[in-house]
Amino acid sequence: MSVEQCRWLDFPRIEDQRGNLTFVEAERHIPFAIRRVYYLYDVPPGAARGGHAHKQLEQVLIAASGSFDVMLDDGYANRRVTLDRADRGLYVPRMIWRELDRFSANSICLVMASAYYTEDDYFRDYEEFAGQARTP
Ligand code: TYD
Repeated sequence: MSVEQCRWLDFPRIEDQRGNLTFVEAERHIPFAIRRVYYLYDVPPGAARGGHAHKQLEQVLIAASGSFDVMLDDGYANRRVTLDRADRGLYVPRMIWRELDRFSANSICLVMASAYYTEDDYFRDYEEFAGQARTP
């Protein structure tokens, strides 16, 4: 898996004077069936989240409010992106190390995931992840 396979997904945006609306349909706007949704909020200034990779899980991250940065690493190369739009998602395939930081005040990181939570799916040690990622 490569950081180049992390890609932007642009969602429909219904503009309205009463406020904008964006919707996300599983297997249409994102490339998997959604099994779980979670969100990060009340992130204090300077805090970082993530710091892990998933063995099988695929995810789409959205800055539902505010902004934050995501550092992506495939064991060889890394890439830093900023999420700051509620109508755009970042697709993160399996076996990508990610770290989230630079959260703006009141930001919300909404995550749609392809599977239920299980700790067995995590690499929480970077060297262990990189060793596996670099194994042909
Ligand atoms: P973690 O995935 O490490 O958070 P992040 O990557 O956003 O920094 O999860 C933090 C804690 O929450 C950890 O104890 C596992 C638990 N958790 C669940 O129980 N269910 C979930 O769906 C998620 C994402 C985490």
